[in-house]
Formats: sequence, structure tokens, C-alpha cells
Amino acid sequence: MTETITHSEEETLRWAEDFSRQLNRGDVVALRGNLGAGKTVVSRGIARGLGFTGGVHSPSYALVHEYPNDPPIFHLDLYRLAPHADLHEIGVEHYSFSEGITLIEWPERLHGLDVGVHYEVQLERIDDETRKIRVIDLRKKETP
Ligand SMILES: Nc1ncnc2c1ncn2[C@@H]1O[C@H](COP(=O)(O)OP(=O)(O)OP(=O)(O)O)[C@@H](O)[C@H]1O
Ligand SMILES: [Mg+2]
Repeated sequence: MTETITHSEEETLRWAEDFSRQLNRGDVVALRGNLGAGKTVVSRGIARGLGFTGGVHSPSYALVHEYPNDPPIFHLDLYRLAPHADLHEIGVEHYSFSEGITLIEWPERLHGLDVGVHYEVQLERIDDETRKIRVIDLRKKETP
């Protein structure tokens, strides 16, 4: 587990750009945190770090945005996913998640559906400008 404190949106963007360097094709990153914690800011930083120069916003109408990039970036916001939805509602058959990097806001809406999350990023709002960012590598056995 790693833990970082950032003191501005800009610092979180830079942290996320840095974090993106360890990502590989097929990786799935779950972004947890309350409304306004900074999940979309982290998604934007990761996308920038991976070379994407376009806009990154929470997908509000679609559940998934695919950003044209090499590797492609799939940005999911499952806030509006119905409880007990299945993966077809996300459109798994339309996207090649395994070929790109997948970022998932509101992964708790998956209700235990296994989408192969590699990293979990937890964002906590400390005050207006301060965030605590924790990263858990779910493929690594954490030693207590
Ligand atoms: N240190 C910081 N890191 C990230 N964002 C910050 C920081 N300080 C302030 N902010 C502000 O917090 C807000 C984070 O918004 P963001 O849309 O990323 O949240 P979110 O977790 O995606 O929320 P939602 O659940 O609504 O999608 C932005 O307005 C950003 O400017
Ligand atoms: Mg968001």
C-alpha cells in the first residue's frame, strides 16, 4: 500500500500522471471515494500520463467513454448503474477492455461482479484542497 497527501488539484494531476507509468495494457484501476473526492481528476491525470491530450470528464450519459489513445483508455462512471446490473449493461461486448487501460469510478456499483481490478485507488477528502490518496496493488500479497 502507498499513501500520498496532495494539496491541490494540480498536485493530484501530477501524482496520477506519475502513477500511470506503472500501468500496462489490460490493467483495470478502481477509483473509490465520495462525490468530489477527485476520482475524475485522477482519471484525467492518468489519461494525460498515458499520452491522451483531449478532455477527460465523467461520462454522464453513457457509462463508458473510450478515449482514442495508444493504449486506448476506457473511462467508466458506474454511479448510475442499476443495482444487480450485469456486465452487458456496461457494454462489455463493445469494448476491448483487455487491450487498454480501464478506469472505473464508483466500482462499488459492481456489487461483487469480478472485472479483474488490478489497482485500487482510494481518495479521501481531508479539507477543500487536501486529499489523501491510497493505492492498493490487489495482485500483491500485502504483509501486515
Ligand atoms: N488535492 C486535490 N486533488 C483533487 N481534486 C481537488 C483537490 N483539491 C481540490 N480539488 C477539487 O475537488 C474536485 C474533485 O472533483 P472530481 O470531479 O474529480 O470528483 P469525483 O470524485 O470524480 O466526483 P464524482 O463522484 O462526482 O464523479 C474538483 O473540483 C477539484 O478541483
Ligand atoms: Mg467523477
